Amino acid sequence: MIVIIDFGSQYNQLIARRVRENHVFCQIESPGVPLSTLKARQPEGIILSGGPSSIYEAGSPKVDPGIFTLGIPVLGICYGMQFMTAALGGSVERAEKREYGFAELRITAPSGLFKGIGRNTTCWMSHGDSIRKLPKGFRATASTPNTRFAAAADLRRKLVGVQFHPEVAHTPRGGAMLKNFLFDICGCKRSWSMKSFAREAVAGIHENVGDKKVILGLSGGVDSSVAAVLIHRAVGKRLTCIFVDNGLLRNHEAARLKLSLRRHLQINIRFVKAGRRFMQALAGVTDPERKRKIIGRVFMDVFEAEARKIKGAEFLAQGTLYPDVIESVSAFGGPSAVIKSHHNVGGLPRQMKLKLIEPLRYLFKDEVRELGSALGLPEELVWRQPFPGPGLAIRVLGEISARRLAMLRSVDEILLEEIKAEGYYKKLWQSFAVLLPIKSVGVMGDARTYENIAAIRAVTSRDAMTADWARLPHDFLARVSNRIINEVAGVNRVVYDISSKPPSTIEWE
Ligand code: XMP
Repeated sequence: MIVIIDFGSQYNQLIARRVRENHVFCQIESPGVPLSTLKARQPEGIILSGGPSSIYEAGSPKVDPGIFTLGIPVLGICYGMQFMTAALGGSVERAEKREYGFAELRITAPSGLFKGIGRNTTCWMSHGDSIRKLPKGFRATASTPNTRFAAAADLRRKLVGVQFHPEVAHTPRGGAMLKNFLFDICGCKRSWSMKSFAREAVAGIHENVGDKKVILGLSGGVDSSVAAVLIHRAVGKRLTCIFVDNGLLRNHEAARLKLSLRRHLQINIRFVKAGRRFMQALAGVTDPERKRKIIGRVFMDVFEAEARKIKGAEFLAQGTLYPDVIESVSAFGGPSAVIKSHHNVGGLPRQMKLKLIEPLRYLFKDEVRELGSALGLPEELVWRQPFPGPGLAIRVLGEISARRLAMLRSVDEILLEEIKAEGYYKKLWQSFAVLLPIKSVGVMGDARTYENIAAIRAVTSRDAMTADWARLPHDFLARVSNRIINEVAGVNRVVYDISSKPPSTIEWE
């Protein structure tokens, strides 16, 4: 396994992905991680990430320089390389010109990181500071027109550094460089796979939970379903899942989910119908943040009441994913305030003092899907598009009523039917309808109408951090729009959302 020290670069998730794509396990740690913890993990290699700071700046992140004497190979990227340079006796200076963008890379030592890369390639630069003097034992291995020490290495100590970003697609041979680091320099084996992950996770949960009971909040989404299967393998009947039907799901979804979960997960599941409570609490509320808070609170009350009925439970399981974990580890050590708690189903019932298990906390969404398939979950569960915890409440803009919810459900159902019929469902990150809180004029037959507007949102994305609107064919959109206006009473106009994230978000709220 590889440990990545997070100095705050926006590319850290990418480094992790690149390592995992090579079937090598990796974990991201904050710079404050004690040397003893690092040693105990017995990593084959350490990667020091880039970051926005300047190393001589007060408060810039630092990792224990003892890592350079452990005999473990280290790859420093950008800030990581500058940190290594300064820590080992070299020096770094403020560059006159910030280097940003593509640069020609001339490789002068075609071994180590650059084995088999050739002499000339391009790389992606993004740095303000630059290395002035290399530490003793290091020699330059590549340069760019602006940067003398674009890369350097002390191969005897297996310490290598690059001032560019090998993890981004803009460095075309970056993947090959990382492979050289993993397999040649660190001697990693390609042993990380979903099957091995599942085996280790099951063993870990089994050991951790012992003969105690576990509760899990099932949303019907891929994350909580996969977490449930994994935990079920480890503890069997001692797992109880709770599914809260908040009345804010898509058409027929609660019933379908119930069927599908029952059929495929031979797990003890308690279904709680609570739609009326949610609707009562949401009456008259228009502000999206208030809606979210109310839904969170009612969910917690319902969940907690149900969980209390399960005597002797000591653990609460959640399907938290890696992007949430990374967001919550700040570059300067310790958890930061950025975690989006509302994104997780459940949350910890406060007074129950349950211990948390998060078996997916090191996985990305597509890895969870892969794991789900490896565990034998059916396509319909593994390939469900993400659905927000607060459900349709944040897609009926403005005040929610049973009538408006029903209208949105009908629109959404038509859209999904068409999306699935055309084979777009799996290709899109999400596709859904939104009911707007304004009306517009139309003409139907010979009469004027003054009715509602539905918006269609369809996006492509890898992880929801960024997203682009899907370029669905006009003919397809025309068909969907016609069907919606003809079939759903109360809607006389359909618009298509052509905004990307950022600056927009995926949900409208
Ligand atoms: P935004 O709208 O912030 O959404 O671009 C990013 C992704 O998160 C989903 N989402 C949620 N998921 N609970 C969830 O489990 C929530 O409260 C929640 N809010 C948004 C959204 O659908 C998109 O995939």
